[in-house]
Amino acid sequence: MAHTPRKMLVTSALPYANGSIHLGHLLEHIQTDIWTRFQRLRGHECYSVCADDAHGTPIMLKAQELGLNPEDMVEATRQEHHEDLLGFGVEYDNYYSTHSPENEALSQDMYNRLNAAGYISKKTINQLYDPEKNMFLPDRFVKGDCPKCGAVDQNGDSCDVCGATYSPTEVNNPRSVVSGATPILKDSEHFFFDLPKFEDMLQNWITSGAIQNEMANKLQEWFEQGLQQWDISRDAPYFGIEIPGAPGKYFYVWVDAPVGYMASFKNYCDKNDVDFDSFWQVDSDAELYHFIGKDITYFHCLFWPAMLEGAGYRKPTGVNIHGFVTVNGAKMSKSKGTFIKARTYLEHLNPEYLRYYFASKLSDSVTDIDLNFADFTQKVNSDLVGKVVNIASRCAGFITKKFAGKLSDNVLDAALLAEFTGASESIAQHFEARQYHHAIREIMALADKANQYIDTQAPWVTIKDADKQTLTHDVCSMGIHMFRVLAVYLSPVLPELTKSAQTFLNDEFTWDSAQTTLTGHEINKFKAMLQRVDTDKVEKMVEASKENLAPKATTTPAKPKKSSSKPASDDPIAETISFEEFAKVDLRIAKIVSAEHVEGADKLLRLQLDIGTSTKQVFAGIKSAYSPEQLTGKLTVMVANLAPRKMRFGMSEGMVLAAGPGGDELYILEPNEGAQPGMRVK
Ligand code: MSP
Ligand code: ZN
Repeated sequence: MAHTPRKMLVTSALPYANGSIHLGHLLEHIQTDIWTRFQRLRGHECYSVCADDAHGTPIMLKAQELGLNPEDMVEATRQEHHEDLLGFGVEYDNYYSTHSPENEALSQDMYNRLNAAGYISKKTINQLYDPEKNMFLPDRFVKGDCPKCGAVDQNGDSCDVCGATYSPTEVNNPRSVVSGATPILKDSEHFFFDLPKFEDMLQNWITSGAIQNEMANKLQEWFEQGLQQWDISRDAPYFGIEIPGAPGKYFYVWVDAPVGYMASFKNYCDKNDVDFDSFWQVDSDAELYHFIGKDITYFHCLFWPAMLEGAGYRKPTGVNIHGFVTVNGAKMSKSKGTFIKARTYLEHLNPEYLRYYFASKLSDSVTDIDLNFADFTQKVNSDLVGKVVNIASRCAGFITKKFAGKLSDNVLDAALLAEFTGASESIAQHFEARQYHHAIREIMALADKANQYIDTQAPWVTIKDADKQTLTHDVCSMGIHMFRVLAVYLSPVLPELTKSAQTFLNDEFTWDSAQTTLTGHEINKFKAMLQRVDTDKVEKMVEASKENLAPKATTTPAKPKKSSSKPASDDPIAETISFEEFAKVDLRIAKIVSAEHVEGADKLLRLQLDIGTSTKQVFAGIKSAYSPEQLTGKLTVMVANLAPRKMRFGMSEGMVLAAGPGGDELYILEPNEGAQPGMRVK
């Protein structure tokens, strides 16, 4: 096959250096790793880099909380992350850190270029400041009472109870999460990047095929809202990179984080004599791909290409956006034991299972991917153990024992084998297009054919017939040839199985190995390649992942705040109201016709509710407990006559009813079967 070798650089998003790698991260790293392994097998020059994202306020505060130097903490985390990833066969050419000399130099140079080109301006802004800690407070580090509904102890930017979003300066009784002090307002000069200047370029780039159509459409909403000047500076104390010529001012972490892709690659290039500039200069002939989750699209599809363009670098060839991992149909949850860390998984299960399962579900779309343990067990056992490995194990013994470990000189069914080798380009196209689920389906259909062939030929019967020894030898050799082709196709997905298969076959694979046949070739004794998934171990893993969420003093605010929620029994019944007062509330059965994430909102889902006569849009603060997929199609109860409220993301025309303290413990109401949209609840 004559491929022109392509030059590529591939990255995954840089995990924050203040938490462990978990199943959600792994989806991305596995998706990236499969793609790079595939490209290398095809003979392309493909580099892959990643790093830890080491900077920012949460990381600085976490280090303080632990009594560590931030430098020491992020280095320890980087090593742990790197080992976790290697445990899953995820191998980057470099796994570096954004806290590095290369990143400092490249980020400052990027800024100097943007500044010289006139894209940086300064403006004084007024922000909440912690007078005890002597630091400005990011929104998530302010808490207080909701200015809309009065609920106590809400986040600085949004209310879990009523779903409202607001500015932290509007919160009643505000307090700093860091020290508990009452914040004051203070002026500070900030640096801004002129994003609106890049609007036309971004519109073109986004619709040029660089990102998936469904995301390109979504991005149109952001253009309609209008691009804003981007605040790129933070004041000391800040763990980050200093802005040149501005003492005490640091780059906001999202400035130096994507530059971290360049820095990790630079560090690799310098050690391995690769020409860094040829990958990043404007007329580069190399391809550049970033794999990311949908939550960080704004940064990768607006800020990053604009920064690159403004500083005179090339832009990404593609930003490949994936959806979120849910477990057993729900958002990963620490209390349910479905927030599973990489380490915990590795202590219980074989990483190849997860690589295979994710591959069997991954497509080029941004829909969420559910890890359902029953399905996981069934799929791995039936496909990998029951189909693929089974082909080899059914044929290998006879070759070793009866035919001196040598495959026959004859290809018994050339037409059948041609079906296997002939699938190469189709499967390759699926991998190239990140349609891994199609690749897997095609491979498994071939595995079924191989097993049917062996069933029909029944070598365990013919082996007993002295006249059929050559036939048996040929049949078993056919089985091994077919197994080998499938092992080649699966090798981007399953690095360990590939190693075992190569040892067994006494061979080394490239993608084009599928086109050759090992007639007359000596193979090695077959050894078990993969155990079945043990459901006990799955349960143990979930058990080991259950976290006791007892109240704990912490300055890390992103967690569900179980500690502040009262047990149901402590929540006194409200003051008596008259029937007339109650009757004013018009409650209706509503069908959730669609549910979707709201760009830029941590807690909200946008619901379209059918109440018979009309459809209402409601922003509900239930994202911490439900994924959109779980809600679509469900019936629930809504307050239909609540005064509409204008929120940052649009109008909210009512409320859905839910119980529970918050976080992942929120339960929406669902009527008994038979209720119809629009029926009044009374
Ligand atoms: N540090 C930033 C990325 C900077 S890139 C220049 C960040 N870090 S993260 O640790 O929060 O997330 C890293 C990646 O993991 C992101 O692409 C994110 O979308 C992905 N995921 C985190 N949780 C996820 C799931 N539950 N499911 C799938 N991917 C998820 O964002
Ligand atoms: Zn509220």
